[in-house]
Amino acid sequence: MKSLNIILLGVAGRMGLSNLTYISKHGDLFRLAGVLEHVGHRFVGKKLGEVFNALTLSDYQKEMVVVEQLEQLGELHDQSSAVVIDFTKPAATLAHLEKLAHLEKAKKKNAKLKWVIGTTGFSDKQKEVLMQHSCERAIVFSGNFSLSIALLMHFVNQAARVFPDSDVEVLETHHREKKDAPSGTAFMLADAAKKGRSALGMDAELVCGRKGSDAKRKKEEIGLAALRGGSVVGEHSVCFFSDHDQIALSHTAHSRELFSVGAFQAARFVASCESGFFSLQDVISDKLAN
Ligand SMILES: NC(=O)c1ccc[n+]([C@@H]2O[C@H](COP(=O)([O-])OP(=O)(O)OC[C@H]3O[C@@H](n4cnc5c(N)ncnc54)[C@H](OP(=O)(O)O)[C@@H]3O)[C@@H](O)[C@H]2O)c1
Repeated sequence: MKSLNIILLGVAGRMGLSNLTYISKHGDLFRLAGVLEHVGHRFVGKKLGEVFNALTLSDYQKEMVVVEQLEQLGELHDQSSAVVIDFTKPAATLAHLEKLAHLEKAKKKNAKLKWVIGTTGFSDKQKEVLMQHSCERAIVFSGNFSLSIALLMHFVNQAARVFPDSDVEVLETHHREKKDAPSGTAFMLADAAKKGRSALGMDAELVCGRKGSDAKRKKEEIGLAALRGGSVVGEHSVCFFSDHDQIALSHTAHSRELFSVGAFQAARFVASCESGFFSLQDVISDKLAN
């Protein structure tokens, strides 16, 4: 298989490091074409070999310099076959996409860099802007790049159709530092159940937590509950309770590398697309087909 050029944004971050580690182990499949951090970051101008000396990098990777602007990544038209993997923050993702669109327009380029977005926390309005960019450029966007979660969503959707009378509840557990609750992934799973119910003409309502003397469960509810503690990377369960039994579809994350596995698979997928907005489900759709 031809090796695919990859540009990593936010290379000094937790996911940036995970992605760099992944590419250092899969040099036969992926080639590092550029690494970027934000303006003024302490790694900018330094070689990867200097700042990541604990990693086993190949010689060309060690010599690669961290840049702060997309145009410093060399002639962008030479990079049109490359894929950007972006785990940064919403404002950064949007600013880089905007800048690149401007640069490409100025150079009258037709071929566009492809983008894999793992960044989370976009507002609905910001998501609309991402969608607009996808009219010109192929983008894979997922709030969770675990292939297992993508598969779990498929199972949850199926189970919601097969068991229309069951009560659906989503339970998630994360480390004590996590800011948002319930997690974005818990919402993705609840949405998968909701879509399954919609296919049956049912209108389910998502309900976060229960409290008080009038908190009895309604039939059409999909409940979400969150536990916080310790250093748990992430646990999600979707339970279907009937009067006779219950099933639980569960996933436990052990390390961030699982997100890198999915992101690089998404990069391989998006490299062959011209434009469009894709999910991780699209990436694995050929494997889900009968
Ligand atoms: N989709 C998934 O599967 C998944 C999985 C894990 C995490 N995430 C999401 O991915 C994002 C990053 O997570 P993380 O844990 O890696 O966070 P992190 O450790 O804070 O890493 C983000 C990196 O991006 C850098 N950055 C900020 N602005 C930038 C810019 N304009 N250009 C380039 N780099 C910039 C940050 O630098 P500074 O630290 O100096 O600001 C930092 O090094 C978050 O939104 C997180 O929720 C998604």
